Order: sequence, then C-alpha cells, then structure tokens
Amino acid sequence: MKAACSRRYGPPSVVTLKDLPDPVPKAGEVLVRIEAAGVTVGDARIRAARVPRGMGPLIRIVFGLTGPRRPVLGREYAGRVAALGTGVNQFKVGDAVFGITEGMRLGAHAELAALKADGLIFRRPETLSIPEAATFFFGGLTAADFLLDQCALKAGERVLVVGATGAVGSAAVQLARYRGAHVTALTSATHRDLARELGAHEASDYSDALPKGPFDVILDVPGLLPDARERLAPHGRLGLVTATLGQTLAATLWPRRAGNKRVCAGIVKETPAACARLLALHTAGAYRPLVGDTFSFADIARAHALVDSGHKRGSVLVRMASTDEASTDEASAKAAPK
Ligand SMILES: NC(=O)c1ccc[n+]([C@@H]2O[C@H](COP(=O)([O-])OP(=O)(O)OC[C@H]3O[C@@H](n4cnc5c(N)ncnc54)[C@H](OP(=O)(O)O)[C@@H]3O)[C@@H](O)[C@H]2O)c1
Repeated sequence: MKAACSRRYGPPSVVTLKDLPDPVPKAGEVLVRIEAAGVTVGDARIRAARVPRGMGPLIRIVFGLTGPRRPVLGREYAGRVAALGTGVNQFKVGDAVFGITEGMRLGAHAELAALKADGLIFRRPETLSIPEAATFFFGGLTAADFLLDQCALKAGERVLVVGATGAVGSAAVQLARYRGAHVTALTSATHRDLARELGAHEASDYSDALPKGPFDVILDVPGLLPDARERLAPHGRLGLVTATLGQTLAATLWPRRAGNKRVCAGIVKETPAACARLLALHTAGAYRPLVGDTFSFADIARAHALVDSGHKRGSVLVRMASTDEASTDEASAKAAPK
C-alpha cells in the first residue's frame, strides 16, 4: 500500500508517499481501505513537533525524540471494510465506515489501516458524504467537548467564537446556534460571510475593533484573543482550545482565579459516548462538518502546508481513491454550508 510517512520532524516536505507492506488485521481488528482522510492541525503539530509553549518536551516523549515513532500520521478517515480479523462480528466486508484512530495510534494517512473493531469506528450514515465523514470527528468532538461540557453553554447565553471558520470553530458556531445561544463570530474579513452562513448572528473581523462583550462564554480556538477574561460576564466561562502548558495547569489547578469567571483548558475526551453524541447532533441537524480544500493523496505535503497557514476553511482533506460516489459527494457538499 501507499502511505504518507514523516520520519523526522520538519516542514510539510518531510511528508512523502512510500510503499509499505499491507497491514494484516489481528484478532478484533478490521482492515479498512481508506478513501479519504482529514489532515488536521493535530497531524501538522506532530509532523513539525510544533506545539503551544511548554508542551515541546511532552510531544517528543509521547511521539518520538527526533521524529514520529509512528511515521504514518492521520487520525480521521472514511473508507470501506476490506477484511476482518478473527472474532469481529460488528462489521462485514464492504461496509462503509468512518472514525478517528485512537490516541497515539495515528495511521489514517495510508491506503489501508488495521483498526480495532470496538474502537472509535462507525458505519457511515447516508447523510454524510465520504469527505464529510472523513472530517467529522476532529473539529466536532473538540467543539462539543469545550462548548457543551467544559463551558456548559446554555440557551439564551451570549457566546463569542474566536477562529469561527476553521475545523473546530465551524463546528462550534453550528452547535452554539443549535443550543439556542446568541453567537458572535470573530474571523478574518475574508471569512465573515462564511461565519454567518454557518449560523453566527454577528461576525467581526479580528483586525478591526474587537467585540467587548460581555459574553457568557468565549471559545478561543487559536488562543489569540487579548484580554479574554475582561470580555466575560460575571460567571462567564473561557474555553482555551489552544493553551500553553502554564495556561492548562492554571485552568486545572485554579480555574476560578478571576473571581466567578472560569477558565477551561485541556485535552478533549474522545470516547464512544462523545462520538455517539456528535452523531446524534448530526442526525438532529445540529452539525455538519465544513469540508474545505481537497488534495489528491500524492499532494499531501501541500495539504499540510495549507493547514500550517492557520487560515484554512473548515477541514482539509486528502482523497486516496476515486470512487463511484463522487456524484453523491457533490450533491451532499452542495447542501453543506459554504
Ligand atoms: N485542546 C484540545 O484537545 C484540542 C483538540 C483539537 C484542536 N485543538 C487546537 O485547536 C486549534 C484550532 O484547530 P482548527 O483545526 O480549528 O484550526 P484552524 O482550522 O487552522 O483554525 C484556526 C482559526 O484561527 C483563526 N485565526 C487566525 N489568526 C487569528 C487571530 N489573530 N485572531 C483570531 N483568530 C485567528 C483563523 O481565522 P481566519 O482563517 O479567518 O484567519 C481560523 O479560523 C489548534 O491549535 C489545535 O491544536 C486543541
């Protein structure tokens, strides 16, 4: 099979397609022929060993000292079951599936992946095209965890979403609107209209005067909003999706150091229950992933470069195979917010 390998940390050019032996599914695993996969900020962070301040040593301990220990990156994907290991009865060969590989496992930027059948892998519903399914979880799980769980957003509250049109922000705007909040988006001038199409009531340009609030909840996706706490209402919650080690420790040990205002930071919980809730929200019409630029698998280094820009639209995708579902994808993409 072809797989995108990064054997050392560095710029997008370190990612190259290599021929690797086809994986063989062990007991309890399914072999998935990957049709498309998201290239996320998480993948780009591992590729470059580029993380928020203070987290540098941690990433090298977890993922490898001089380069990724598991050189095939990639977590979210859509594909078809190609073979079954022994003892698997949840799936059959040919099933359309999608999911997110667990924790440090990575491996979705390949034509084939052997994955745990009882892991975060699901049958793809007809309401999701292949590109949508391949970009369903990374942004959606993060937005739902921060907005609904950590910041406990309620109907009628005022929420500011900073970075509202990336993978996390585009999901957050949709979920906040569905919850019945009044949504203000902060974006570049280029993406203001897109934020409104996603459901924001108001959209401001971050190079202009910043909205003062007060807001009940601020979701700061890139962690770039100055004086965020001062823009919170009493009892307001600040979700720092991108946080330094110091901010994460402070939020964990001393979340209310600004009086009754609370700061939330940390790693998102990726569990079967969290995935099931996101799927239920999708079924209810609350969430559809925003698919941005698509690249061929051979062009995966260009996909990484776009992710590195910090200004992508929704999620970036690579397509491993041309399928007879291209027309379905187009129809579905037309229904999705642009
Ligand atoms: N805590 C966790 O467990 C967890 C989980 C997942 C992701 N994350 C983190 O979440 C972050 C975002 O991920 P993503 O995929 O949504 O990234 P993304 O798609 O690259 O989005 C970044 C957003 O930041 C905005 N932005 C850029 N410069 C800005 C500025 N000066 N002021 C305000 N906004 C600005 C961009 O807006 P424009 O495009 O309009 O310029 C864009 O919408 C990453 O840092 C990732 O590591 C954390």
